[in-house]
Amino acid sequence: MLFTITRGLILAAIVFCSGAYAAKITQNTNARPHINLDGAWHYIADPYENGFYNHRYQEHTRDGYFKNAQVEQPGDLIEYDFANAATLNVPGDWNTQQDELFLYEGTVWYQRDFTLNKSRDERYILHFGAANYEAVVYVNGQKVGTHIGGFTPFEFDVTDVVSDGDNFVIVKVDNRREREQIPTVNTDWWNYGGLTRSVKLLTLPKQHISDYSIHLADGDSNSITGWVELNQPLNNARVTVEIPELKVKQTLKFTGDARQNFQFKAEPILWGPSNPKLYDVHFRLQEQTLSDRIGFRQIDTKGEDILLNGKPIFLKGISIHEESALHPGRAWSQADAKQLLSMAKELGVNFVRLAHYPHNEHMVRMADEMGLLVWSEIPVYWTVLFERDDVYANAQNQLSEMISRDKNRASIILWSMANETPMSDARLTFISKLAAKARELDGTRLITAALDTSSETDKGKSIDDPLSAVVDVIGINNYCGWYYKEPAQCAKVRWFSDNNKPVIMSEFGGGALAGYHGAAEQRWSEEYQADLYRYNLQMIDNMSFIRGMTPWILKDFRSPRRPLANIQDFWNRKGLVSDKGVKKQAWHILNQYYEQHQ
Ligand code: GCU
Repeated sequence: MLFTITRGLILAAIVFCSGAYAAKITQNTNARPHINLDGAWHYIADPYENGFYNHRYQEHTRDGYFKNAQVEQPGDLIEYDFANAATLNVPGDWNTQQDELFLYEGTVWYQRDFTLNKSRDERYILHFGAANYEAVVYVNGQKVGTHIGGFTPFEFDVTDVVSDGDNFVIVKVDNRREREQIPTVNTDWWNYGGLTRSVKLLTLPKQHISDYSIHLADGDSNSITGWVELNQPLNNARVTVEIPELKVKQTLKFTGDARQNFQFKAEPILWGPSNPKLYDVHFRLQEQTLSDRIGFRQIDTKGEDILLNGKPIFLKGISIHEESALHPGRAWSQADAKQLLSMAKELGVNFVRLAHYPHNEHMVRMADEMGLLVWSEIPVYWTVLFERDDVYANAQNQLSEMISRDKNRASIILWSMANETPMSDARLTFISKLAAKARELDGTRLITAALDTSSETDKGKSIDDPLSAVVDVIGINNYCGWYYKEPAQCAKVRWFSDNNKPVIMSEFGGGALAGYHGAAEQRWSEEYQADLYRYNLQMIDNMSFIRGMTPWILKDFRSPRRPLANIQDFWNRKGLVSDKGVKKQAWHILNQYYEQHQ
């Protein structure tokens, strides 16, 4: 135990020193000039971290795997060889690409070559969509940085490390679970390791627009506001912000600073599920044009109501894990996003809970295009070490990276701070600080968390978690008919809320093996799950303060916590659709409910 804590503290120190919590991320990387580094990377599984530590357990300085040493003389002793090693596709988890890596938890080294026409007028930023869980990145044998956290982007300026011509990049990815991590050691999802999202070498002008924010002014749908940030302060530069369809063009003058705010009148068509209107927005600096597709909308609460563009809305949702419906393992592509969100749309939703961590950028951009509202969350999940400052710093960094990447996505209306965390003073302080940080970083969205604490008296069930006073919208996870009571009893459960704020049933559901039929009393039958949905929906109809729901879950997903032979086989079977894409009876129950509740 002591060793684990020591490792955690050392890790935190490394992270702070190496600036891995720098959280500066180039906005909208797909629209930037870049060399795409996706594709086949050579890999070496390294369970003993032999490529990182010598036999005295000291970090290698000169002959680790990151040197990519080549045999030059017949007598040379080099005990690794990337060029002749097998390959893994990037992006993608390693678990579903190689049978030997299915249950693997440890280090995998990735290596690939790339060529570059290096110019004095460019900056080179090595950008990762995500790597689960800890990444140490080397270019041409030199360490360029470290990142902790499995679901958010990170990048390193490698301008002074890359060469004109041939280069190589090596990444040590370690997905071992540790008690002090975010998430901590126990989660109900598969620990997919690797370079799970795209890798790009951004080839940017020496002076460029690094980041921007643009949205409606709070409470004024005829005013657009935001800021533009340059990668370095400029004394005499002009940036124009243009929205041609709104006949808007603003010029910002930079006189020695790196960030300029803007605000201008405009009357955009408001973005929403019935009309997901996106505008082409162009940011121009010198001869550079950076474009994005932006939706403009308002999201607020008023008492127990959630207001979208000033009107109360009921969030007809579903929870989704970032697991592809097209291929085994992590979802990462635009096709994955289209498939998962189309399955959700077919169910009749206007809302998705992207559980339990930030999904890839394609998902939130696709939600913008398809008009799906989004609950986005960081993996502060279950029994995190809330009393540890280094653990909080990690959580806050993942929050900052999530908000930095997705702050311009109209679809995202809720930032969720936590899921089913046990009540304690330390936990309340930890999550309250996260909520304050989220409001500081982005005052335009609502803050929520999924709580699982409710007490039952003869009056009925109520939410008695002090965190409900901290958030704007309360999420409650409640498994009536699965983890407690029989399904039929759920229709009689009465809830009350005196929070005077909106409540979302952020999880309910039960398991069923697709194609397994029996009496409704038969656990794991489709009939059991269908009944559970029927009765929970009746319970929800009696909860006057409910303004949305995201039943658990769209599709069966892999979990090491679900080994039941011939039923689960390492799949959590609470999906409305099986891992093979087969709809279960409960899918039709929820679909009918959503269609009747337009
Ligand atoms: C919990 C948790 C989910 C989990 C689900 C289940 O509420 O939030 O991550 O998968 O219940 O037990 O299936």
